[in-house]
Parts: sequence; structure tokens; C-alpha cells
Amino acid sequence: MSERIRVLLSEEEVDRRIQEIGEQISRDYEGKQVHLVCVLKGGSFFLCELAKRITVPVSLDFMSVSSYGSETKSSGVVKIVKDLDEPLKDKEVIVVEDIVDSGRTLSYLLEMLRDRGPKSLRLCTLLDKPERRVTDVHVDYTGFRIPDEFVVGYGLDYDQRYRNLPYIGVVEFD
Ligand code: IMP
Ligand code: MG
Repeated sequence: MSERIRVLLSEEEVDRRIQEIGEQISRDYEGKQVHLVCVLKGGSFFLCELAKRITVPVSLDFMSVSSYGSETKSSGVVKIVKDLDEPLKDKEVIVVEDIVDSGRTLSYLLEMLRDRGPKSLRLCTLLDKPERRVTDVHVDYTGFRIPDEFVVGYGLDYDQRYRNLPYIGVVEFD
């Protein structure tokens, strides 16, 4: 079985949208410092591009989680594989994610991070698949709402490949 990638969102479209979100965050947090929390590995490409376009002071931290369950269906129970280096207490935190799918992983994660006492906690995702949602998750900043298709690129992988594509594509098999 061979696979092809069909472009869903071009590099230009993604770049333009990230610029807009960066401007919006810069306005919303005027006079403050934002602390961006990246969920590895998927969120890393989006985080770098977004951080470059935010004009208020920015600090960054990274965490890695694994959800118990199969590759295609997350259970929502999250194990921290790599925790944040710094406390979140009194920080203006924005969690930066690649995609919100069922929402299970994020609702669990956000609850856990909220317990650490940030001054504020918001969620920014490059992609959202609202049709797939099973758990209510409030998304504050969304890049694109996309249909229920398996996508890769800009940090998203299929079997650990394609994360480095500078656009968002759909994997097609023939
Ligand atoms: P959920 O929202 O808990 O179902 O899980 C979200 C995670 O599943 C994301 O952070 C991705 O790692 C992965 N995921 C969901 N949809 C896709 C996709 O279309 N392509 C690649 N990974 C995906
Ligand atoms: Mg992810």
C-alpha cells in the first residue's frame, strides 16, 4: 500500500493564520508576559512560528505526555513523560497544541495544569476537528477548523513521519 499527501492547507495559508493569531495574542496580553506551554512533539512547530510573531514578552516551557490507549483512540488518561521545568504559579499561561481531536487528552491536561495555580490558562490550537469531540474543551485560539480526516505536517505525524512538512496535508492510501 502506498501513500500520498494531499495538501489541505498550504504553507502560505498556515503562515498567514499564525501571523493573525500572533497579533491577536499580542493585543490580548498587552502589558503582560505570556508563558507558552508546548505539548511535545506535535505542538513544537506551531509554537516556534507562533512565538516569533508575538510582540509582548514571551517565556516558553515544554512537556511531553502519553495517553494510554491505542494510536487512533486516546483514553484521556495522561501520563507525564517529561514535565515542565518551571512552575506555572501566577503566570499567564497559554497551552499550545497541534490539534484538538476527541479533546480527551487536553481536558485532562488542562485540569492538571490549572491545579498548579496559573494566573490565567488558555488554549491555542493550530487545528480543531470539532466533529470528533467527545469531551468539552474550551479553545481560546484556533488556527483552522478542519473536517474529520487524518492530517500530517506542521508537527503532526503519521507513524512519526511527515512532522517536518511545512504545510498541512491529508494522508491518502492507494
Ligand atoms: P485527543 O484530542 O485526546 O483525541 O488527542 C489529540 C492527539 O491525537 C493530538 O495531540 C495528536 O497527537 C493526535 N491526533 C489527533 N488527530 C490527528 C491527526 O489527524 N493527525 C495526527 N495526529 C492526530
Ligand atoms: Mg498533540
